[in-house]
Amino acid sequence: MHVDLFFTPHQTDELALREKTVVVIDVLRASTTIITALSNGAREIIPVATVESAVKISGNLFGGVILLGGERNGKMVDGFDLGNSPLEYTAERVKGKAVIFSTTNGSLAIVKARYARELFVCGFVNVGTVAEALWRTPRDFTIVCAGSDGMLSMEDSVCAGMLISRVGAGGTAEPELSDGGLVARTLHRTFGRGILKMIRSSDHGRHLAEIGFGEDLKYCAALDTLPVLPLLEGDVIKLRSEVEKKVTVDNSQES
Ligand code: MLT
Repeated sequence: MHVDLFFTPHQTDELALREKTVVVIDVLRASTTIITALSNGAREIIPVATVESAVKISGNLFGGVILLGGERNGKMVDGFDLGNSPLEYTAERVKGKAVIFSTTNGSLAIVKARYARELFVCGFVNVGTVAEALWRTPRDFTIVCAGSDGMLSMEDSVCAGMLISRVGAGGTAEPELSDGGLVARTLHRTFGRGILKMIRSSDHGRHLAEIGFGEDLKYCAALDTLPVLPLLEGDVIKLRSEVEKKVTVDNSQES
C-alpha cells in the first residue's frame, strides 16, 4: 500500500488525482463541518469552489430543502444560511437538507479531487473510521490537505500523520510512504499527544479564536467523536452507509 500526500491542493491537479483513492483533510474547519452536518442528518453536501457558483446552483434547485453554507475569511458569506462553524450544523438546522457548501480551502481541495475513483472526507472527529475503511480494503491512497491559501497547515498535517499511523496499526503491513507521508507521520509522533494545544497554537487556530470561534477548536480537536465516512458520490458528498443503502434498494428493485 503506497501513500502519497500533498500538504496543499496547490501542489497537485485534477489529472494527477483522477481515478485515485483520495482523502481530503481540512480539520479547521470544512472537513469537520461536513462530517458534522452528515452525522446530524443532512441529506448531502454539494461542494463548490466559489461563492458565485454556490448562489447560481441554489437558484436552480428547489427551495426549502436547500441551504447555503460556508465562509470567507472564517465568517459566514452575506446571504448564506450558515457559516463554517460545525456547531451551527445541528440536526434542527440540517436534517433532511442538502447543503451547498463553499469554503476558502476545504471545498477547493474537494473540487480539485472530484474525479477521484473514491474520495473520503477526514478530520480528527472521524479519523479512526477513515483509517479502518482504508486498512480493511487495502489500496494505495493519496491525502490532500486543504492547508491555508497555498501554505501548509499544522493541524491538517498532524491529522494526516495520525491517519497514516492508524492505517499502519490496523492493517497487516506498514504502508509505504512518500516523503510527504513520512513528514506527516513524524509531525503526528511529535504533536499527536496534545491535539488541542497544537490546534490552539496553529496559524488558523489563532485566527479563529481571535474572531470568536474558540469553541470550534475544541470541537475539531476531539478524536473519533463522529464515526462516519463521508464519500463523494458524483458531485455530492453523502455518508457511505446511505450510498450503500441506496445500492441495496436499487438492486432489490431490479431483481
Ligand atoms: C477553509 O476551507 O479555508 C476553512 O474551512 C476555513 C474556516 O475555518 O472556516
